[in-house]
Parts: sequence; C-alpha cells; structure tokens
Amino acid sequence: MSRSIKQTECLIIGTGIAGATSALVAAKEGINVTLITKRSHPTITNTNLAQGGIVYKGESDSPQLLKKDIIRAGRGINSIEAVEFLSEKGPQIVKELLIDELHVNFTHIRGSEDEALDLTREGAHSINRILYSADHTGKDIESALIAALQRQDNVEVITGATAVDIITLQHHSKNIQSRYVLGDRCLGAYVFMHEEKEVAAILAQYTVIATGGLGDIYIHSTSEKGIVGDGIVMAKRAGARVINMEFIQFHPTTFYVPGKRRFLISEAVRGEGARLKNLRGEYFMERYNPQLKDLAPRDEVTAAIWMEMIKNKQEYVLLDVANHVHGNIEERFPTICRTCKDAGIDITNEPVPVVPAAHYLCGGIHVNTQGRTTLNGLYAVGEVSCTGLHGANRLASTSLLEGLTWGYFAAKDMAWRIHTKEIVEQKTMNTVREWIPTRKVEKEDPALIAQDWMMIKNTMWNYVGIVRSRSRLKRALEDLRHMYLRIEDFYKETPISKDIISLFHGTQSAIMVTVAASRNNKSIGCHMISPPAEKS
Ligand code: SIN
Repeated sequence: MSRSIKQTECLIIGTGIAGATSALVAAKEGINVTLITKRSHPTITNTNLAQGGIVYKGESDSPQLLKKDIIRAGRGINSIEAVEFLSEKGPQIVKELLIDELHVNFTHIRGSEDEALDLTREGAHSINRILYSADHTGKDIESALIAALQRQDNVEVITGATAVDIITLQHHSKNIQSRYVLGDRCLGAYVFMHEEKEVAAILAQYTVIATGGLGDIYIHSTSEKGIVGDGIVMAKRAGARVINMEFIQFHPTTFYVPGKRRFLISEAVRGEGARLKNLRGEYFMERYNPQLKDLAPRDEVTAAIWMEMIKNKQEYVLLDVANHVHGNIEERFPTICRTCKDAGIDITNEPVPVVPAAHYLCGGIHVNTQGRTTLNGLYAVGEVSCTGLHGANRLASTSLLEGLTWGYFAAKDMAWRIHTKEIVEQKTMNTVREWIPTRKVEKEDPALIAQDWMMIKNTMWNYVGIVRSRSRLKRALEDLRHMYLRIEDFYKETPISKDIISLFHGTQSAIMVTVAASRNNKSIGCHMISPPAEKS
C-alpha cells in the first residue's frame, strides 16, 4: 500500500462529544478506530464550549414528559421515532457512560444527605432535569472522553488533518465497472495532512462524520472558529441526503461587546432566574409569552429580543442577573463572570448587554436512530446530522445528549456489522485511487480568502439571519452563487490548504442553508419569515 493510503476499520471525523463517544464505544467493542481532527488538539471543539448542561432526568420526570417538551419546542415537526428514542435511551447512556464509567465532575447538591446530583432548568423544560458542571459542562465531558480515548490502544488520534472528500466506490474506484453499480458504498475519506501538505486516502469499513454544525458561516455566532459545515457538504457531494437546512437556531443571549467575538451567556442563567429587559428597564418577555416568559422556547426569546431591538432602535438588550439570581453567582457561573469582568461588566452588580447569535443547526445529514445515512457505510452523529429530533427548533441542553446517544448507538451498530462480517472485501478496497493533485498554478492569497469570508458571513447574517424575507433570500442566493463560481475556480487553481478547503466548503454550506430557506415559505420555529408578534 502506498504511503498516501492508510487503512482502518472505523474512521471518525471530528472529536466533539458525538465523535469521541463513537470512537470510545467502538474501541471498547474491539474495533480499530482512526479519529481525525483538523485542530491542533482533540479537545478544541464546540462541545468544549458548551456551558449549560445535558438533559438527564428530574424528579417525577418521564420519557413522555421529555418527549412533550421536545416536540413543543420543535413546533411539532420533529421525528417522533427520534424523540422517543432519545427520551428513552438518552438518560440511560448518561448514567452508564458519563456518570458511572467516566465519572464526569457534575455539580452535586452541597450538604444534601447523599450529595445527590443537582439539576437545573432551561427554556421550555417543564421541570429541572439538566445535569451540569458549573458553567463548563462541555469542557468536563470532553476532557473525560478524550482522556478515556487516550487509554485505548486501538484508537489512533490524528490532529492537523482536514477531511477533503468522502471516498465512494462509484466516485473513486479505478475499476470502471464500479460506476455502474446502483447502490454506492462509502470507503473512507481523503484527508489533507497539514504538516505533510499532502492528501492521504484513509480507507475504512465504516466512516463517521462528526464535524459539528456551521456556526462560523455567520458573522456573529457562538461557534468555535472554522466550524463551517464541511461534513454536510462532503456527505451531500458523496450522495447522502441532507434535510432541514433552513433551521438555524439563534441563541438569544450572547455577550455584546462592539467589535468583539460573541460569547455565550448560558440559558441556565435564565434557568436560575435572570430576566431580560430593554434599555427602558421593561421586562419584556411577559409581553411575548405571558406564561413561560424568559423561559419560553429559544426561537421565541430570540424573536422577542430582535423585535425589542428593532422597535426601540437599540443595539442590544440587557440580562438582569444581579437582581434575580440567588446564591453565589460567581461559583455557579465562573466562566461567564470572569469573561464579563474582563470586558468591564460585573454581572453580580450590573446587567449584561446581550444579543442573539447563530448557535445550532437543527438540520443536516439525514440519519436513522443508528446514525446510518442514506449512503451505505457512512454514518453521521451530533450536530452535523439531522435525526429529526429537533424539528424546527431545538430544546435547550438536548445537543450534548443527542451527540452522546447517537455516538453510542452508531458505534454499536458499526461494531455489530464488523463482527457479523458485513464488510467490504480487500480487493475492492484496493481499487480506490490515490488523491490526484491538480496542477496548481496560483499562490494562495490570504487577502482574497479573508474578503470572501467577510462577504459570506455578512450575507448570511443580514439576509439569512434571525428574520428572513423572500427578497433577502433571493439576493443572498444570487450573491452566494456568484461567489461560489469564483471560489470554485480559485479552488482549482491554488494548491490545496486547510484555508482553501474551509472556504470551498463554507460557501457551499451557506448556499445549502439559503436554498432550503428559499424553498420553505412557512414561518416556523427558527425559520422565521414574518416578524414575531406581541401577545399582550
Ligand atoms: C446554553 O448553555 O445556553 C446552551 C445550551 C444549549 O445550546 O443547549
């Protein structure tokens, strides 16, 4: 086998909760796993930034009650099968993997008899059922998972490796006859190795895409830099089905400092009592949702903030923590307190300026409850996938749970297929061709890349943002398509690099969101076409 072709049983692209869980569970089933990330360290993920928590089970909770809350937030267009699957299985996996096996450092009720786990609440939940670890839940889960993976000798973690393309039999076999086979088969991925500056083919019996969402195609987002929908674009190009791409969830509260990157202020802060007010001091949520007020579903709170900002010509609204959250705020929300303090706001004393920002993609690569996509041999787990769980709007703190649950069951499914010899023969694997570098002529120009990104991010924010309109979407599509033609030429003429791959994929995922939004005339959940209305 040539130097630029490697082979493994299971290739996992992405190291957040979904990818890392898949890797760990598959490895424990005796499968050889190669786990890749384009980052310099596997913990650099969106999971690592998750503050609020992970849904578990509250007192007098039941799968039926959780199901009801998820569907109410999702505006009724959720997959019932996915909702029931998560509501039944999710909390069991939290207990088995995170509590009993990895001993994640969740917060306990201090002074309670058996130091029971504390449970908090977020928007649209009927009861307290969310496990948390102060305001760094994601970080604690992520580091426990990566540490466990490092103890497995059948897991190879490769950093500085950007996936370029999914390998399929029809597209990449040297055997012409493979082109005519009706059902295609995924056989791994082409991966750009940053240090070597070359593309390797990593062949795999099963491939899992776990690359997260696409928050960074918006100028304002809560996402890690560089999360631009690569996995979705690659899966689509390979022939897998992608759905619900118009449903981009905007988180209502991110810290507003002009000119600075947005920083998430967890919904758990409102779960603990904080309230939103406009600059005139009016607690406005009661006008939009008199029953749930500040703990209304996320799409409603975002829309209400947007409306208040427009109506009052204000650049932000305020989150009043000091007057409404009891107990030790600094202990409960250390990261948020520290970040705000560094920017000159003491949240224990004064209100925090907040604005909504792009937060989560509810659509993605269509999968079943085992994480299987419509392309044989290819799985997708976590935010990159669309299980149908979230419908038109995700319920708070279900994202870590979905990543964990689908990561777990996808791994079990792959292991079962490998153990029962549902595998591709070596002679078929051997037909995969090496990556063919095109004869590149132009030198990469960082100024062109930066300018293209500015245009994409601004177009998405202004035309495909919180509130959309037919004319804005039309203009966005024209602009993005025009830009794509230029970027495609650039991609063909410039030596491959991680920045070029990212731009090429980011433009395509922006177009996918815009096309889906243009095709859906119904204002529902986080696809908002008409502006929100006050209820009283
Ligand atoms: C938050 O802490 O508000 C984010 C949690 C989530 O997105 O579910």
